[in-house]
Amino acid sequence: MQVLGVDVGGSAIKAALVDIESGTIQGASVEIPTPRPATPRAVAGEVAELVSALDWQGRVGIGFPAVIRGGVVSTAANIDSSWIGINAVELFGNAIPGECVVLNDADAAGLAEMRFGAGQEQDETVLVLTLGTGIGSALFHRQHLFPNLELGSLPLKGGSAEKYAAASVRMQEDLSWQEWGGRLSLFLGLVERLLSPEMIIIGGGVSQRSDDFFSYLQTRARLVPAHLRNNAGIVGAACHAGILDP
Ligand code: BGC
Repeated sequence: MQVLGVDVGGSAIKAALVDIESGTIQGASVEIPTPRPATPRAVAGEVAELVSALDWQGRVGIGFPAVIRGGVVSTAANIDSSWIGINAVELFGNAIPGECVVLNDADAAGLAEMRFGAGQEQDETVLVLTLGTGIGSALFHRQHLFPNLELGSLPLKGGSAEKYAAASVRMQEDLSWQEWGGRLSLFLGLVERLLSPEMIIIGGGVSQRSDDFFSYLQTRARLVPAHLRNNAGIVGAACHAGILDP
């Protein structure tokens, strides 16, 4: 069964068709920059463009960078504040031909990593972190997701953790891998004190460069790079949409 997966990120919106049994992307993925400002109307318009570029009429799963409760957006750390209170399922549903399901982007990426990637058959407590524009987090115990965990908003060094240690901050502040690794270690120490995971999976685009920074990270948990790399969000969103009320 195929479902279209969409990953709305702080920098880009990506979409691809996903075979939800194998968790693989079918054909080409399409990508456009996230509009600025990323208002509900602008983002819904771009998502509709991508869906129509792929000529897709069926079900769509959308990973979105905010807390999503009952389809409603309730935080806006890295998106326009006008999203707060918007029913994203209704908004995207009105903009595209098929039915849609919306969930937090890190939850989507985490679901994909647990089912098809580095977290397969892990029965312990696993934390998936996505390092990109912000820091996304998804916590699993015995493969069950605890949704909408916002570890990137934890206070760290006088601001939020993601403003101090996200992958985008390394670029903006021109930090060396070692300097950024030190910041990330502080964050990981904080989350380990709170959650004691046995395994931490590091995702997001920067996970492809794990050789450059894993040696600077000290964790009690096993630290592994994500297997699905930057596609995890698309795959997880599609699988979530396909599995709900199939
Ligand atoms: C948002 C999270 C999201 C993360 C990664 C944060 O700014 O608050 O909901 O998962 O960015 O995109």
